[in-house]
Amino acid sequence: MIAPDLRSVGGPVEPQGPVALERDDEAQATFDALIAAEQRIEPRDWMPDAYRKTLIRQISQHAHSEIIGMQPEGNWITRAPSLKRKAILMAKVQDEAGHGLYLYSAAQTLGITRDEMTQQLIDGKAKYSSIFNYPTPTWADMGAIGWLVDGAAICNQVPLCRASYGPYGRAMVRVCKEESFHQRQGFEILLTLMQGTPAQRQMAQDAVNRWYWPSLMMFGPPDDSSPNSAQSMAWKIKRFSNDELRQRFVSMLVPQAEILGVTLPDPELRWDDDAQEWHMSEIDWPEFFEVLAGRGPMNSVRLQNRRAAHDDGAWVREAAAEYARKQEERSLSLLNGAVA
Ligand SMILES: [Fe+2]
Ligand SMILES: [Fe+2]
Repeated sequence: MIAPDLRSVGGPVEPQGPVALERDDEAQATFDALIAAEQRIEPRDWMPDAYRKTLIRQISQHAHSEIIGMQPEGNWITRAPSLKRKAILMAKVQDEAGHGLYLYSAAQTLGITRDEMTQQLIDGKAKYSSIFNYPTPTWADMGAIGWLVDGAAICNQVPLCRASYGPYGRAMVRVCKEESFHQRQGFEILLTLMQGTPAQRQMAQDAVNRWYWPSLMMFGPPDDSSPNSAQSMAWKIKRFSNDELRQRFVSMLVPQAEILGVTLPDPELRWDDDAQEWHMSEIDWPEFFEVLAGRGPMNSVRLQNRRAAHDDGAWVREAAAEYARKQEERSLSLLNGAVA
C-alpha cells in the first residue's frame, strides 16, 4: 500500500507577518502529522529548528565517534598476531571510516558543511563517544572492543534504522549490518583466547574487566537524568530509553559470556524476577562525565592524532579541489565550444 502523502506544505517557509505565522503553523502541523504517521522527514521538508539542531548534533557526534573510534584498533593493525587477523582488523577499521563518511553526508543534508564539522572536532568543541578515550594495551582489547563496544553500538543503532529523519535511518541500515560482523569478530577473538593458555585466558578476562563498564556507559546517563531523551523519543529519533537499551544489552551479554567462559565484572549482576530486569551495581557516573569532559586517559592523544591526520591530509584536499576546478573549467569550455 502506498502511504498517503501528508506534505501539503513544501519547501522553505519565509515568515513575514500574520500570513507567515499561519504558514508556520501549517508547516508544523504537516511535520507533526508525518511523525505521527511513522513517515520519514526528508531534507526537502520543513522541520522545527530544534529538530534540525538536535539531529545535526547527534549525527555529527556519531560521525566523529566512528572516525575517532578507528584509533584504538588502528593501534593494533601492525601487531595483529597473524595475517588473517590483520586482514580482518583492517577491514573492520575501514568499515568505521565508511560509517563516519555516511554519517557526515547525512548531517550535511541538514545544512552544515563537512568543513564545519571537522573544525568542531579538531578544535575540541565537538563531543564523540567517551568509550574511545580508553587505551588498548593488549591484543585481547580487539576482542573486547568488538564484543562489547560494537555490541553496544548495535543495541543503540538497530532502533535508529527507524529514526524519523530519512538520511539518518537509511545510513544506519548498512552500518548495522557491518556492526554485526564487528561484534562477531570480537567474540571470536575472545573465544580463541579463552580456549588458549592460562595467560591468554587471563588476558581476555582482563580486557573484559576494563571494557565492560565503559560499554554500559555508552547508552548514556540513567533515564531520570537524561533531559533530552523525552523530546528525542517524541520526535521518533530515539525509540527506546537509555536504561531500556542498557537492559537489552546486558540480556544479550549474559548468555554470550557463559559461552565464552568470561565473568562479567559485576558481583551484583542478577536477574530480578519481580522487577523483570537485570539488577546491577551503580555505574561510575563521575568517571563517565570526566571522560566526556575531555579528561579521560586518552582524550588528548586521540585529538592530537586526529589533528595531525587532518594536517597531513591537506595536500589531498588541495589536489582534489584543484582537480574539481579543472574538470569544471573543461566542461565549461566544452559547453562554450558547443555554443560557438
Ligand atoms: Fe561503526
Ligand atoms: Fe563497528
